[in-house]
Amino acid sequence: MSDTANPAVIRRADYAAPAFLVDSVALEFDLAPERTVVKNTMRLRRNPDATPGSRLELMGEALAFIGAAIDGKALAAGAVRAHEHGLSIGDVPDAFELVIESTCNPVENTTLSGLYVSSGNFFTQCEAEGFRRITYFFDRPDVMATYTVTLRADKSAYPVLLSNGNLVEEGELADGRHFAKWEDPFKKPCYLFALVAGKLVALEERIRSRSGKDKLLQVWVEPHDLDKTRHAMDSLIHSIHWDEERFGLELDLDRFMIVAVSDFNMGAMENKGLNIFNTKYVLANPETATDTDFSNVEAVVGHEYFHNWTGNRVTCRDWFQLSLKEGLTVFRDQEFSSDMQGGATDETARAVKRIEDVRVLRQMQFAEDAGPMAHPVRPESYVEINNFYTMTVYEKGAEVVRMYQTLFGREGFRRGMDLYFKRHDGQAVTCDDFRHAMADANGRDLAQFERWYSQAGTPRVSVRTAYDAATQRYSITLAQSYGDAAPAARETQTGPLLIPFAIGLIGRDGKDIALRLEGERSETGTTRVIELTEPEQTFTFVDIKEAPLPSLLRNFSAPVIVEYDYTNDELAFLLAHDSDPFNRWEAGQRLATRELLALAARAAAGESLSLDDSFVAAFARVLTDESLSPAFRELAMMLPSEAYLAEQMEQADPAAVHAARQFARKRLATALKNEWLAIYERHVTPGAYEPTPQAAGQRALKNLALAYLAELDDPADAVRLANAQYDSANNMTDRAAALAALLAASATAGAGVAEPALDQFYRRFEKEPLVIDKWFALQATQRGSAKHRVIDVVRRLMAHPAFTLRNPNRARSLIFSFCAANPAQFHAVDGSGYAYWAEQVVALDSLNPQVAARLARSLELWRRYTPALGDQMRAALERVAAQVKSRDVREIVEKALA
Ligand code: TRP
Ligand code: ZN
Repeated sequence: MSDTANPAVIRRADYAAPAFLVDSVALEFDLAPERTVVKNTMRLRRNPDATPGSRLELMGEALAFIGAAIDGKALAAGAVRAHEHGLSIGDVPDAFELVIESTCNPVENTTLSGLYVSSGNFFTQCEAEGFRRITYFFDRPDVMATYTVTLRADKSAYPVLLSNGNLVEEGELADGRHFAKWEDPFKKPCYLFALVAGKLVALEERIRSRSGKDKLLQVWVEPHDLDKTRHAMDSLIHSIHWDEERFGLELDLDRFMIVAVSDFNMGAMENKGLNIFNTKYVLANPETATDTDFSNVEAVVGHEYFHNWTGNRVTCRDWFQLSLKEGLTVFRDQEFSSDMQGGATDETARAVKRIEDVRVLRQMQFAEDAGPMAHPVRPESYVEINNFYTMTVYEKGAEVVRMYQTLFGREGFRRGMDLYFKRHDGQAVTCDDFRHAMADANGRDLAQFERWYSQAGTPRVSVRTAYDAATQRYSITLAQSYGDAAPAARETQTGPLLIPFAIGLIGRDGKDIALRLEGERSETGTTRVIELTEPEQTFTFVDIKEAPLPSLLRNFSAPVIVEYDYTNDELAFLLAHDSDPFNRWEAGQRLATRELLALAARAAAGESLSLDDSFVAAFARVLTDESLSPAFRELAMMLPSEAYLAEQMEQADPAAVHAARQFARKRLATALKNEWLAIYERHVTPGAYEPTPQAAGQRALKNLALAYLAELDDPADAVRLANAQYDSANNMTDRAAALAALLAASATAGAGVAEPALDQFYRRFEKEPLVIDKWFALQATQRGSAKHRVIDVVRRLMAHPAFTLRNPNRARSLIFSFCAANPAQFHAVDGSGYAYWAEQVVALDSLNPQVAARLARSLELWRRYTPALGDQMRAALERVAAQVKSRDVREIVEKALA
C-alpha cells in the first residue's frame, strides 16, 4: 500500500536523533527549466548520539537519480537504490564524502515546493520538506551544515544568480552561460536553503549596523515592479534597527536580500540571507496597495527578518517544535508593528495593533481549536507537516510567548531571550529549551506553564465577584475549565494552566481604583496581573470604598474566553470609561455580540427584529468621542464578524447571523446618518498619500462611514460619495473602499451602480496582478442578495481570462474569498457553495496540494452547523474524500469526517 492510500502518522514521541551528521554541503546547479542537474557533494559522519545502523537512508521526492560516489568511487548499481521516497545506500564508512547527481523538472513543478519556475525565473521553497525535491538529503531540521552553492545558467535568460550568504566568485562560461558561487558561513538546516535565478532588478541600500559594520540590503523584483520596493526596503531597515534596540540582535551577514515572487504558497520565507516573498508582502505603492497592504508588508518583512535569530541561528529540533520559531517570531513582529504605530509609549496606538491581532486570534484560532484539527501549540502527531502551519502554532503560539512577557515584564523577557541565545546559538532545540531559558533567567519554576504547549482547546475562565461594604473587601473568584471541548482537544487536557490574568477595578466616577490585595502592605498600581494556577481561586482586594466594576483580562493577558455576566449598562459604562483601551473595545464587542446573537435567534425563528435605543446610544458616544483616535473608533464601530458570531451559536446559522448583523448595521447607519456624513467629511485626507498610522486611521474611519452609509435603504448619498471618491482617489485604500461601497449599495440599488467603476478598475489595473486579485476578491466577498447570488458571479469569474488556478494568490482571491470570507452566500441552503467548493478542492489537489488542503479546511466545522447545512457539508466532504490523492488534503478531510 502506498503512503497516499494509507498515510503514515508521524509522532513527536518517536523522535530519534539522525543517524548521520552532515558537516558541509556543496551544491552545483546546471539550471534548465525542464531538466536541472544537481550535483551534491557532502561530508558525512556517523552521529555518535544515534543508535547505529548500517544503511544510509536519504530522502528524495520527484527526482531522477543519475549516480553516486563515496570517497571518489562510483557506487555500483547494487550498492545504491533510488525509490519513490529517497535513496538507500548499503554499508558506508563512519566518515566519508558522498557525491550524488540527480535531476528535477522545475517547469512542471506546480506544487511550488522545491525548485520551480515562476514567470520564467527560478525560485526555491524548502520549508518544510521541499529540499528533498531538489536533492537527496537528510531533510530534517536537526541536521545542520554549511553550504557552498554554485549556480550555472544561460546568461541572457538568467542574468541574476542568487543563493544564501556571500557571493564569493562569478564569471563567464562557454555557450553564453555564466556562473555564481555563494558561501553561507553559518550552519543551517536544509529548509533554509534557497536559490533564485532570472531577470530581476534590485533596489539597494547600504547601512551600518550598531557595531559599525557595513551591510548591503537588496530588494529584488521583476523590472516593472521596481517602483513598488521603497516601502519594503524602509521596513527592512526599521526591522534591523528595532531588533538591535529591543533585543540587542544584529544582522550577522554582510548582505541581506529579499526577493519577490508572484507564485508562492504562503506569505514569505526566511531563507538565510535570501528571504523569498510572495509579491503581496513586498510590493507597495500608493496607487496599488492599501493601508492594510502597507502594514502587512511591514509586518511580514519584520517577521522574516526576525527569523534570522529566532529560527535560523537557533532552529527547531523537529517540526513538532515549529512554534518555537513561529510563535516567538509572530510575537516579535507584533511587538515591532506595535512600536512602529505610535512609539512604544503611546498605549492607545499600541492597543490598535493588539485589538487587530486578538480579533484574528478569536475568529480563526478559537474556531480551529473547536474543530477536528484542534492541536496543541506543540502538536503530538501529524500526517503532513504543511497542514500544521496553523493559527494555533502561529497566533496562539505568539500568545504563549507574550505571557512570559506579561509574567516577567519586558526586562525579564529580555533576560530570558539573552539566556536562550547564550545557551542555544547554532543549535536545533525544543519549546522546552525556550521555556527553561525563561524560567532560569527569571528564577521561576515554569513546570505548570508547559501545559500551554501540550493542551489543545480554548480555556474558559468564569468569574464571580462579591463586594462587602462593611469590610470594604472585594473578592474575585476565577475558575478555569475547557467547557465542552472538541474531542481532538479533550484528549490532550491534563490539568489546570498557569493563567496570567490582568485585572483593574473601576469606580463610579469611571476612574481606576488603586489596588491592594489582602496581605499586601500598600496599594500598587491600578492593573494587577493575578496568577491563576488552580482550577478555582479567590483573590481579595481590600480598602475598596465602593462596589467597583471589574475590568477583566486587560490587554487580553491570556488566550482564554472570559465568562462574566455584565449587564448591558455595565458594558456601556466600560465602553465609555475603561482606562485599558483594549477592554474599552472589548466591552463594545461584548455588548454587540450579545445583541446580535439575540437578533440572530429571532431571525432564525422568523420573528421581527428590533434593537434598543441604548445600544445605538452607546455606540454613538464612541463614534463622536474626539478624544479617541480615528483608528480606535473605526475598530470600536466595526461589529463582530459573521464568522465570529456564528462560532458563538449553539448551532451555526450563517443566514440568521447575516440577517442580524445587516439589521444592526442598517440601524446604526440610519440612526447615525448625520454623524456618519459628518465623520466622512471630517476625515478626508487631502494632499499626497502618506501610509502613516495617523493618516491610515483617518481613512479607515472615513471609509467605515462610507460603508455604513451604503447600508441605508436609500444609498444615494453613499453612491454619490463613493463615485466621487473613486474618481478623485490618489491611493488604493480610497479607491478600493469606494468600489466596495458601490458593490454594497448594489445589493439595494441594483448591480448597475457598481458596474462602471468595476469595469474601469479592471482596465486601469489590468497589468497589476495584485490589484486584479483585489478586483476578484471584492466581487467574491460582496454581500449579494436573493436575486443577485454571488455564486453566479463567482462561477462567471472562473471563466474570466485573468483567472487561473495555478497562481495561489489568484485562486485565493476568488475561491477562498468566496468560500471562507462570504459565509452567508457560501452557506446557501441549496448547497451551491459546497458543490463549488468540492470541485475546486479536487481541481487544486492535483496541482498544488498545500493550497488545496487550505481550501479543504473551510468545511471542517460542519458538525457545528444547523443540520440542514451540516448534512450537506458532510456529503460534500465525503465526495471530496473519495476523489483526492494528496496526503495534504486527505489528512484534512479524513479528520473532518472522523
Ligand atoms: N517559515 C515561513 C514563515 O515565515 C512559512 C512558510 C513560507 C511556509 N512558505 C512556506 C511553510 C511553505 C510551509 C510551506 O512563516
Ligand atoms: Zn515565520
